[in-house]
Amino acid sequence: NHYVVIMAGGVGSRFWPVSRTSLPKQFIDVLGLGKTLIQSTYDRFKQIVPEENIYVLTNHRYVGLVKEQLGITDENRIIGEPAMRNTAPCIAYACHKLEALNPNATLVIAPSDHLIQDTERFLADIERSLNAAENSNALITLGIKPSRPDTGYGYIQISDETLNGFTEFNKVASFREKPVLQVAQEYVASDKYLWNAGIFIWNVRTILAELEKHEEKLNAIFLVGREKYNTPEEKAFLEAYYPMCENISIDYAVMEKSELVYVLPVDFGWSDLGTWTSVYGLSQQDNRGNVLIPDANNIILYNSSNCMVNVPSYKKVVLKNLHNYIVVESNDTLLICPIDSEQEVKQVVADAAKQF
Ligand code: GDD
Ligand code: MG
Repeated sequence: NHYVVIMAGGVGSRFWPVSRTSLPKQFIDVLGLGKTLIQSTYDRFKQIVPEENIYVLTNHRYVGLVKEQLGITDENRIIGEPAMRNTAPCIAYACHKLEALNPNATLVIAPSDHLIQDTERFLADIERSLNAAENSNALITLGIKPSRPDTGYGYIQISDETLNGFTEFNKVASFREKPVLQVAQEYVASDKYLWNAGIFIWNVRTILAELEKHEEKLNAIFLVGREKYNTPEEKAFLEAYYPMCENISIDYAVMEKSELVYVLPVDFGWSDLGTWTSVYGLSQQDNRGNVLIPDANNIILYNSSNCMVNVPSYKKVVLKNLHNYIVVESNDTLLICPIDSEQEVKQVVADAAKQF
């Protein structure tokens, strides 16, 4: 009765120029590990859930990439959404589809673009969560100890109350998606908050009831398709109805509102790999603090330190007297910028989209 739904429809612009609309970060080997992020995600879950129970939802334009990278041939397990509507419609749909298949399904909803360092610990936490979600009506999320007041995350206020029979799960007192900086600072200082890892575990009964309660309109759209899921008529249904969905993430739609949210505090080396700087920090640095991806054979450094170079292996690169810079090339585009001004890349991408 255990299923996994991998969400792979995000665009993400901060890994420009390597990541772009035609190739978002989940389809890239950001860290030079020999596997893309979605391949690593899929391989991890394959160890605890039969492959035929792993579904991937993505935008229709990435269906080919998913097939190619994961080698999935069963068309029913790769779903292309005809419009970009963020994670609530994606999750609502996936849960209705699985409920039609198996009303006792318990599932993991997983992002496709995170780094997880300790796979064994991660899988043990997922199995504990599946077991708890199967035997309760909890909406479970995994919580990470925050290390900085990042405004790109959801914050979970943890309480002392625990889930009946499963004491390692704490009831969530409140959930706040992407607070402003000042609020994030207060949360981090208070010690009572965890970051939402964006990985959810629940049974279909519970999530569908909560959707009905908090997102009635969205839920109604997917009730219309009941008879069509997992049949040849599913695609036409989606094309007609999916675009009607409101554009909203599950965090705002359900997690902030539900009273059934519980958190498992975890520590398995999690990173959502938001920026080149985060990749730099997680990669093997040489003795002068340089990170070279994919490997050093095509790069020569003279008196350079704390640089990150990420270029195709056919490209030969020489750096001389360069410090604290990012040098990233992809296809026809080259980005050179100081490591600390990297947050501004979003603006760069917007300008580049207009100019190039
Ligand atoms: N199929 C599909 N369709 N997938 C989507 C869509 C969509 O429309 N939109 C986003 N995704 C995928 C992304 O590819 C990613 O794997 C995952 O869903 C989460 O979406 P993001 O857009 O990356 O969310 P976020 O990072 O801003 O925020 C979420 O994750 C944070 C942790 O990384 C929230 O859950 C936060 O609360 C959380 O802290
Ligand atoms: Mg994300």
